[in-house]
Amino acid sequence: MAIIQVSAPGGDYPIHIEAGLLQRVNEHIPAGRCVVVTNTTLAPLYGKALTEQLPDASLLIIPDGEQFKTLETVANLYVEFVRAGLDRSGTVIALGGGVVGDTVGFAAATYMRGVRFVQIPTTLLAMVDSSVGGKVGVDLPEGKNLVGAFKQPDKVLIDPDVLATLPARERRCGLAETLKHGLIADPGLLELAEQPDAAPGELVQRAVQVKVNIVQQDPYEKDIRAHLNLGHTFAHAIEQVSGYTWPHGEAVAVGLVAATRLSARLSLCDEELAKSVEQLLARVGLPTRIGALDPDALYAAMSTDKKWQSGQSRFILLHSIGQPVIVTGVEKSVVIDVMRGLQ
Ligand code: NAD
Ligand code: GLY
Repeated sequence: MAIIQVSAPGGDYPIHIEAGLLQRVNEHIPAGRCVVVTNTTLAPLYGKALTEQLPDASLLIIPDGEQFKTLETVANLYVEFVRAGLDRSGTVIALGGGVVGDTVGFAAATYMRGVRFVQIPTTLLAMVDSSVGGKVGVDLPEGKNLVGAFKQPDKVLIDPDVLATLPARERRCGLAETLKHGLIADPGLLELAEQPDAAPGELVQRAVQVKVNIVQQDPYEKDIRAHLNLGHTFAHAIEQVSGYTWPHGEAVAVGLVAATRLSARLSLCDEELAKSVEQLLARVGLPTRIGALDPDALYAAMSTDKKWQSGQSRFILLHSIGQPVIVTGVEKSVVIDVMRGLQ
C-alpha cells in the first residue's frame, strides 16, 4: 500500500494505491450524500459493489466512449445530480477511465460552482495520468478537450486489482502514457513497462510519481506541465481526424514516434533515439504509424490544439530521455513531412 500526498492549489490531496481498495472505499468517503458516476461497461463490474458500501449514494450511468465526452453528457449529469438531491455538501465520485474522469470531473467542477470530487480510476491510463493533476473537460466537434477546468480531486483511490478486467488493448494504451512519463523524466520506467511480470501497483506508483512531481511544480501549465503533452499535438489530431475511432493511448503512441522523429529532424536529438522509441512502442504492441490518415487533415486539426499560440505551432520535443523541450514555430512542411514518413 502506498499513499502519495500531492500539494495542489486549494490544498493537498492523497493518492491511495492499494490492492483491494475498492472493497474498502467506505473508509475513504466522507459521510453525506454522494453520487457515483460510471459507465455502462463498469457499472455491472464494479458499480454495485461500490454503492453497496455507501448508504447515501446514488449510482448514475453514462454511455461508454470518447464520443460521449461531451457537453450533452455533462448537461444530463447536472439534471441527475439535482434529482439525486446532491447539494454543495455532497460528493461526486468518478469510477472509470479517463473519459469518465474528465467528463464527471467537469460536471463536479461546475455543478453549484463546484462540489467535492473523488477519482477512482479503473484504467492504467487513468491511474498513471488523467486522475491526477486536476485537468477535467470535454470535447467539442471542433477539437479535443476544448472546454474544461482545473478541478483538483479531493482524493484519488487506485485499486490495481481492477486492471484484471481491463482489455489488453486498453492496458497497452496505459503503457503509452507510462512510456511518455519515462521519456520525460524516468528512464527506469521504460524498462519496467516492458516487464510483463512487473507488479501493476509498482508500475502505477512509479509512473504516477512523474506526473505528481510535474503538476506540483506547475499546476496551471504555465511552464513545465506542458512536457506532459509530449506526442499529444499529433495524438489529439489523430483522434479528431479519425472521428475518435483511435483510442487516446494508441494515438499517443504514434504521437511519441512523430515527436521523436521531429526532434531528430530538427537536430535536437539523434536518429537513434527516435528509432529506439519506435522499437520500444512496437515491442509492447502499440501502433507506430498513422496508416490511412491524411497528413494535411492532421495538420489542419492540429491548428485547433490548445497548445498552439497565436496560430504558431508548438510542440513538446526531446533532446534526450529526461530532457523535454518546448519548440514553437516549426515549419508546416517539416511537420507534414514527418507525418508522411509515418504513413
Ligand atoms: P476510457 O475511459 O475510454 O476507457 C477505455 C475502455 O476501458 C472503456 O471502454 C472503459 O469502459 C473500459 N474500462 C475501464 N476500466 C475498465 C476495467 N477495469 N475493466 C474493464 N473495462 C474497463 O479510456 P482511457 O484510456 O482511460 O482515457 C482516455 C481519456 O483520458 C481521453 O479522453 C483523454 O483525453 C483523457 N486524458 C485526460 C488526461 C487528464 O489529465 N485529464 C490525461 C490523459 C488522458
Ligand atoms: N495530460 C496532461 C496534463 O495533465 O497536463
